[in-house]
Amino acid sequence: MEQKLIMMVVLLVLALATATATAFTAEYVRPPPRKTLHFPWNPKPSSHPQQVHVSFAGDKHIRVTWVTNDESSPSIVEYGISPKNYSFKAQGESTSYSYFLYSSGKIHHTVIGPLEDDTLYFYRCGEEDPEFQLKTPPSQFPITFAIAGDLGQTEWTKSTLDHIEQCKYDVHLLPGDLSYADYMQHKWDTFGDLVQPLASSRPWMVTQGNHEKENIPILKDGFISYNSRWKMPYEESGSSSNLYYSFEVAGVHTLMLGSYTDYDKYSDQYNWLKADLSKVDRERTPWLVVLFHVPWYNSNNAHQGEGDEMMAAMEPLLYAAGVDIVFAGHVHAYERSKRAYNGKSDPCGAVHITIGDGGNREGLAHKYREPEPEWSIFREASFGHGELMIMNSTHALWSWHRNDDDEQVRSDQVWLTSLIGSQCLSEKSREQRKILSEP
Ligand SMILES: *[C@@H]1O[C@H](CO)[C@@H](O)[C@H](O)[C@H]1NC(C)=O
Ligand SMILES: *[C@@H]1O[C@H](CO)[C@@H](O)[C@H](O)[C@H]1NC(C)=O
Repeated sequence: MEQKLIMMVVLLVLALATATATAFTAEYVRPPPRKTLHFPWNPKPSSHPQQVHVSFAGDKHIRVTWVTNDESSPSIVEYGISPKNYSFKAQGESTSYSYFLYSSGKIHHTVIGPLEDDTLYFYRCGEEDPEFQLKTPPSQFPITFAIAGDLGQTEWTKSTLDHIEQCKYDVHLLPGDLSYADYMQHKWDTFGDLVQPLASSRPWMVTQGNHEKENIPILKDGFISYNSRWKMPYEESGSSSNLYYSFEVAGVHTLMLGSYTDYDKYSDQYNWLKADLSKVDRERTPWLVVLFHVPWYNSNNAHQGEGDEMMAAMEPLLYAAGVDIVFAGHVHAYERSKRAYNGKSDPCGAVHITIGDGGNREGLAHKYREPEPEWSIFREASFGHGELMIMNSTHALWSWHRNDDDEQVRSDQVWLTSLIGSQCLSEKSREQRKILSEP
């Protein structure tokens, strides 16, 4: 009886969610999305490690995450710098969750390290084969980030992932919308398996999008699946929530913010952001990069204005700190801005890049506002991914690679320069920077 009632609530919520989704789609015509991938049923021994991915866990440490069906499987990672020769061993923790009729496997999180920079490690999980390999990032420039948001699990996703695999990158950044499970919990599992070849070999740093929020009022916390499976270094960066955190790699300080948690002046996120920005040392990390899901500079009709509130609350902090680049997702298209602040181009603002074109089942967002705003430099509704190669403290090469059917075509490319050494970080903005130290 009780289960029946719960199922009815779930169906009702799903129906409502679909209704809102259709309301959005009605505003613009998306081209035919590609088919959702088919995952054949492929049972594995219950202690077999699945959905392996790695992420940063503080200086010189990496968190290895995997799932086993076996409840008694140990949260142990064995690792070393030559194949099948595990000189080190780390014990971690595990969690699991249930979502109505669904029960997750055992989700293991094990931190390994200290690790050498720019080194290939061989490892295995739960004392079981197979062996995986991961390369740690360099400690100095150059460093390359691959960036793609709104991935999902379609044939377009596969194409994007194939292109990313061909690029020599060190870290993957994902500005929200991972699996498009949308309440169907087993789709979190298929997504984990889909990305495993890439996500087990380079750190994947993610933040949440609307598709991570599987909220059912009173009954379910919106982010239970996401938080259980994609644990990010929030504790390591002084944050109280997995929905926002920061990390440093080579000379880059990266902040991952939450578009779907409180961001007003009195919120934890706002105060954490202010504290985190005021600790940034531009000598040590000349580049300052921010990611979140809902874009602030967006001239597409899709999701128009949705980022305005967060922008009003937080943009002054980012401006005061001299953020170089902001990456967002949400809109299924690509757009790059000039440096901008307060809705206008501004040489001391950030470059805003929308890269929500990873390839999910909803298709592309085609319609743009006319005339094109003066701050917008390049906009195109195609699937693809981005690469940010930071060469040194002042120069970075940004490129956007469109999926032309299954070929990747470098369609937008530009040299970006950091605000280091510019007027923006000296005299002129000292007044503005006060906001970071005010109580
Ligand atoms: C195993 O690794 C250790 C240290 O990483 C190394 O000293 C040793 O030679 C390796 N053994 C083999 C057989 O490769
Ligand atoms: C940084 O890299 C750019 C592009 O390769 C180069 O032109 C510039 O001279 C470099 N700057 C320094 C300080 O090495």
